[in-house]
Amino acid sequence: MKAVREKVHLGGGEKRIQQQHEKGKLTARERLQLLLDQASFVEHQTYSRGRATMFGLTDKRQPGDGVVTGSGLVDGRQVFLSSQDFTVLGGSLGEMHADRIAEAQELSITTGTPFIQINDSGGARIQEGVLSLHGYARIFRANTLASGVVPQLSVILGPCAGGAVYSPGITDFVFMVDQVSNMYITGPDVIKAVTGEQISHEELGGAQAHAAKSGNAHFRFASEQECMDGVRRLLSYLPLNNREQPPIVDTGDPADRTTPEIMDLVPEEERRGYDVRDVIASVFDRDSFMEVHRDYAPNVVVGFARLGGRTVGIFANQPKVLAAALDINSSDKGARFIRFCDAFNIPIISLADVPGFLPGVSQEHGGIIRHGAKVLYAIAEATVPKLSLIMRKSYGGAFIAMSAKALGYDRVLAWPMAQIAVMGAEGAANIIFRRDIAEAEDPEKAREDKIREFKEEVMDPFVAAGYGFVDDVIDPVHTRSELIRSLEMVARKQQSIPARKHGNIPL
Ligand code: HXC
Repeated sequence: MKAVREKVHLGGGEKRIQQQHEKGKLTARERLQLLLDQASFVEHQTYSRGRATMFGLTDKRQPGDGVVTGSGLVDGRQVFLSSQDFTVLGGSLGEMHADRIAEAQELSITTGTPFIQINDSGGARIQEGVLSLHGYARIFRANTLASGVVPQLSVILGPCAGGAVYSPGITDFVFMVDQVSNMYITGPDVIKAVTGEQISHEELGGAQAHAAKSGNAHFRFASEQECMDGVRRLLSYLPLNNREQPPIVDTGDPADRTTPEIMDLVPEEERRGYDVRDVIASVFDRDSFMEVHRDYAPNVVVGFARLGGRTVGIFANQPKVLAAALDINSSDKGARFIRFCDAFNIPIISLADVPGFLPGVSQEHGGIIRHGAKVLYAIAEATVPKLSLIMRKSYGGAFIAMSAKALGYDRVLAWPMAQIAVMGAEGAANIIFRRDIAEAEDPEKAREDKIREFKEEVMDPFVAAGYGFVDDVIDPVHTRSELIRSLEMVARKQQSIPARKHGNIPL
């Protein structure tokens, strides 16, 4: 029995393990060791063996069929996993390989524990043909049925090519490592043959390409070790499933800590940029922010943080990039993050400082209407506690997305310098006071007067507060304590939406 087990643990054998190490990659089992609490892994279907015999497979198949599956603990909390073994037939996915992954997925759903897949595979096992395609279909369906039920994380640590990419594409978060991970529908050779374009594997489908350009990767790391630390950290914010609440931890950061530094961080001049991540670092529990999609659509910042020890999802405008205007990609990024939070009982806190949706022909023709609509839809549909802080300005449709109580925000706070309107004062003056300005003796002075008047009469946060659309105008110094009090106020919120099979979110 010991000999059989040892053979299983060697996968494709010592030579191929050495080759794996020479490529700077860990083996499937080493990766599990890195990720899981010590000695917590319980393997499932350990001895499954491929049944196919064609094209020399009889000699090449190994017990386990090129993947390791089972459950383990991360910080004492259970997860289900699969880890593809590149040393066996290039980690390619055959019938039994797929069966192991799909069974782990099914167990993750029925036990209500997150599913983590580590991908390192040449894709569909070519010799097994339709059996392999059938296996992928099973996995995709299980990914889809698990969506919103248990968190699903994909860790790409090698090739992930062809239709295989659609499993990570369905899951909630994709992790990649520079110079190790590659993801694409077709690789550089096929692209060269079809379109004539020349590009390397890394440039086409590496971590940088997916983290910054395609948005397929949510997290990018320099090494496998850092990547696994990232997976462990992300899990620490999340509940195990959609029926549980996220963990509450004692972060040691006092709830009544004041935030005087905000006065220096945020310039009052509404056109001046600043880094909203500095505001996040100041207000939320110390060092608790884990940014998601950091390099993609950086005009919004999303991620998990803790506030008074509770997990929250932050959806913030970033004035440092594109003046924080919302565009197609940032709408997609925001909407998907909001929907994850809603599915897993994580309150959403929006930090608004936004001039509106980005104007431009490419945005209009690229579908900003349907993409922007996703954010509105996601916020309107979310039943978790939703708070908004209007920091400086919040205009037009972007105000509705970030801060409108009518869209479903439970509580809206504003700093005294906040400006709320259909558009900025200068733009408004040029439209509604055009004639008064033109006919004035001193048009420049008239323009300034009208702008000031508009700011006081229309944009002032107390105007919105007068309608009940802003619940309180707060001193920025007390932002942290006010947000904590607001979160506690709505933390036990229960809400249901009209019964339906499912909505039809704009895509
Ligand atoms: C069977 C495979 C395989 C596959 C690799 N191997 N991919 N066997 N089916 N898909 C085998 C190789 O034959 C080799 O076996 C061993 O794994 C290691 O592969 P190498 O090529 O030596 O490794 P490397 O040089 O690192 O290259 C890795 C690779 C390359 C880039 C992934 O193997 C490759 O291009 N593979 C094919 C990728 C592909 O086109 N897959 C199909 C995608 S379409 P030996 O015994 O010779 O060492 C797809 C459709 C899915 O997946 C649809 C789902 C809906």
